Amino acid sequence: MKKKFSLGFSTRAIHSGAAPEYVTGARNTPIFQTTSYVFENTEHAERLFRLQDFGFIYSRLTNPTVSVLEERISNLEKSTAAVACSSGHAAQQLAFTALLTKNDHFIASNKLYGGSINQFTKTFKNYGWECTFVNPDNIKEFENAIRKNTKLIFIETLSNPDGAIVDIEAVAHIAKKYHIPLIVDNTLATPFLHNPKDWGANIITHSLTKFICGNGTSMGGIVVDCGNFNFLKDNKYPSLSEPDASYNNIKFAETFGDFGFAMKVKADTLRDLGCTLSPQNAFYILNGVETLSLRMQQHTKNALKVAQYLNQNPKVSNVSYAGLKSNKYYKLGKKYFPNGCGAIFTIKLKKGYKACISLVENVKLLSHVANVGDTRSLIIHPASTTHSQLSDKEKVKAGADPDVVRLSIGIENVEDIINDLDMAIK
Ligand SMILES: Cc1ncc(COP(=O)(O)O)c(C=O)c1O
Repeated sequence: MKKKFSLGFSTRAIHSGAAPEYVTGARNTPIFQTTSYVFENTEHAERLFRLQDFGFIYSRLTNPTVSVLEERISNLEKSTAAVACSSGHAAQQLAFTALLTKNDHFIASNKLYGGSINQFTKTFKNYGWECTFVNPDNIKEFENAIRKNTKLIFIETLSNPDGAIVDIEAVAHIAKKYHIPLIVDNTLATPFLHNPKDWGANIITHSLTKFICGNGTSMGGIVVDCGNFNFLKDNKYPSLSEPDASYNNIKFAETFGDFGFAMKVKADTLRDLGCTLSPQNAFYILNGVETLSLRMQQHTKNALKVAQYLNQNPKVSNVSYAGLKSNKYYKLGKKYFPNGCGAIFTIKLKKGYKACISLVENVKLLSHVANVGDTRSLIIHPASTTHSQLSDKEKVKAGADPDVVRLSIGIENVEDIINDLDMAIK
């Protein structure tokens, strides 16, 4: 396993999972735009369906272009396997569905992307999955919220919108003590800045739509199996430890060991939910991943400079960037993000809500869009958009107060980003 991760990050981001296509020698991974694959004979077909051989059956489940992306992200996260899907939200849906049944309980940080809070409190609640939200700045709240039926803990490493940092090692310690898998949404950090597995995460989810694709072209998501959780212990996760009636009575955890969770997600959950990633999108995302290290270096360098400029602007009352010495997450940033605290943060203006709206409407270079992690710099007012479905209290807890603007700093020349913000703030 060590050997697999011995090459440098940039090398793995270009090569992991890929080889020249064996018929034509095509060097870049082709788009395998096909729904199905011809079986060698009926025995081969049966063996594939029984998961006795690995191979391609039908593109809802497996596709060669998508497989390269799965191998690549799994490798960058130093993990055992991954399952790609149609969006970041689909990744959360897959991971939760594989673990939870009706009347289960889970714990989530209250500093999350608004859409995730919404997904947990509305749609997931309707499935009979109850969520307790806790303040991640107070680690004790995680332990206090644990119940007999608590089946997972979910956090974002760097939170959307304000880039708050969770003390992941401390949360992982609690999760381990109670034998509960820790799921980490690593979207805003990317594996270039942070590997949650190094600090005790068991499952990682990503919206590939953001930095990993990078150009704002394609929706995608992924569930990564870190391979370090014992799903057989105490029969606490029967969907993995017991014979699966919906899949030839396979015991996923026993049969596939340290990638049993990924196999369950792919063969069973993805099969039934059908939130497949298209090969075309996998291709765009793969091309994005190749430059992830270069882009993240420029994103974080620019973000720090923009945050420093804003921090000394007399019209700005708060900059939430953890890379600033004055920020309350600065120490955690040094520990968990030595190469930079990402490129997404919020600012508050002294003149409040109206000034925020005016800023969003007056920028020229920054784009006013509902996305983050693009090469372009982006801006939005979260309280009225990405976090608008939350209650006023939830918004404040999530860092999306009404007088806050979110910035996603791109990789343009930093002077141009600063000049644009300076002009619009004035
Ligand atoms: C941190 C985070 N996680 C998950 C998601 C959901 O991803 P997607 O839009 O690809 O479904 C988002 C979307 O903005 C996000 O910011």
